[in-house]
Amino acid sequence: MQTGYAVLSTSAEETRILGAALAPLLLPGDVVSLSGELGAGKTVFVQGLATALGVERPVTSPTFTLVHEYPGRYRIIHVDIYRLDSFQEVIDLGFEELADPGAILVVEWGDAVAPLLPPRYLQVEIRRTSPHRPDERELVFRPNGQDWVRKLEGMRATAEALLDAASDYAGGPRFVNLADVAPRDDGRYRRPGPEP
Ligand SMILES: Nc1ncnc2c1ncn2[C@@H]1O[C@H](COP(=O)(O)OP(=O)(O)O)[C@@H](O)[C@H]1O
Ligand SMILES: [Mg+2]
Repeated sequence: MQTGYAVLSTSAEETRILGAALAPLLLPGDVVSLSGELGAGKTVFVQGLATALGVERPVTSPTFTLVHEYPGRYRIIHVDIYRLDSFQEVIDLGFEELADPGAILVVEWGDAVAPLLPPRYLQVEIRRTSPHRPDERELVFRPNGQDWVRKLEGMRATAEALLDAASDYAGGPRFVNLADVAPRDDGRYRRPGPEP
């Protein structure tokens, strides 16, 4: 059985709100892994998260430097290894040393390097849903470790409240529990009720 949630976002702003909803749950030592193709919205999510943690400077994809560090309520280390081709390149980057217990580590990448992650982390996968809805994304949150199962419950409550306040979305359930749905090969998880 899968644990976690799939959440629909209909705009970049809503994805920022989801990042912001996660922020209050984060503590130094936490690791958040973001996957999804280029342009999916990984950096947008990190922007929402970092802003909610008091980061004032602009958050951009660390494409040239690979690693950005932001001072805020806590130190945030933001890595983008999406464009690295091989496992070896990630090792060469000194990835394991980035897991600083005094900082929150947020990684954008392809799934190829997942074996380097610690046992406890939050996995966030962002995907486009349909060519007919270019601004729609589905964010799939999967907790690894009991601690993250609990944190994710807290995040859901915050996210629902913030999204309700910010948007007039009326497209059916925004959150689905992964335990209740059958995954699709592509597009979003099938939700109960009529298809849009
Ligand atoms: N629902 C959405 N969530 C996130 N980004 C969106 C959404 N709809 C459109 N976008 C746009 O998609 C792009 C995502 O870019 P970015 O976050 O840099 O992607 P990535 O870091 O995954 O490569 C931005 O231009 C953003 O405005
Ligand atoms: Mg990016």
